[in-house]
Amino acid sequence: MIEVKGLSKQFKEVKAVDDVNFTVKEGEILGLLGENGAGKTTTLRMIATMLKPSAGTANINGFDLLKQPDMVRKEIGILFGGEVGLYDRLTARENIKYFADLNNMDGKEADKNIEKLVEMLDMREFIDRRVENFPGA
Ligand SMILES: Nc1ncnc2c1ncn2[C@@H]1O[C@H](COP(=O)(O)OP(=O)(O)OP(=O)(O)O)[C@@H](O)[C@H]1O
Ligand SMILES: [Mg+2]
Repeated sequence: MIEVKGLSKQFKEVKAVDDVNFTVKEGEILGLLGENGAGKTTTLRMIATMLKPSAGTANINGFDLLKQPDMVRKEIGILFGGEVGLYDRLTARENIKYFADLNNMDGKEADKNIEKLVEMLDMREFIDRRVENFPGA
């Protein structure tokens, strides 16, 4: 569950995010819509602990954004558009393994989780294909 409370961000004279409040319950999907410069990316960056709010906070799965940013980071995954940050020469599986390793996940556990996800998300066809050959990458 994500609870955003009074989240605001001021960049010098620009008020990028002004007192944003919303709740996303487990299993819910939320889309943020707004014109260019509305503050969507800034809101997400704050929730992802990449940018310090000027005011307000958020609670992510029981952890406070400001007080427990390390715990929040363990709860979230974030993928921004544009440059996706995957390694072209590696396969999808190798990319996932690499990031699992960077996050100190046990190798065997990572393998197991990958297998689960491959099944769940129907990724069998491209899990061992190099990312450079993916459409849109
Ligand atoms: N690092 C920054 N320094 C100064 N101003 C910024 C910074 N990041 C964003 N802004 C400003 O804050 C406002 C909100 O920008 P933001 O990128 O969050 O909007 P957005 O809704 O994601 O827009 P888009 O639809 O174009 O992606 C804009 O006026 C932008 O120029
Ligand atoms: Mg944006």
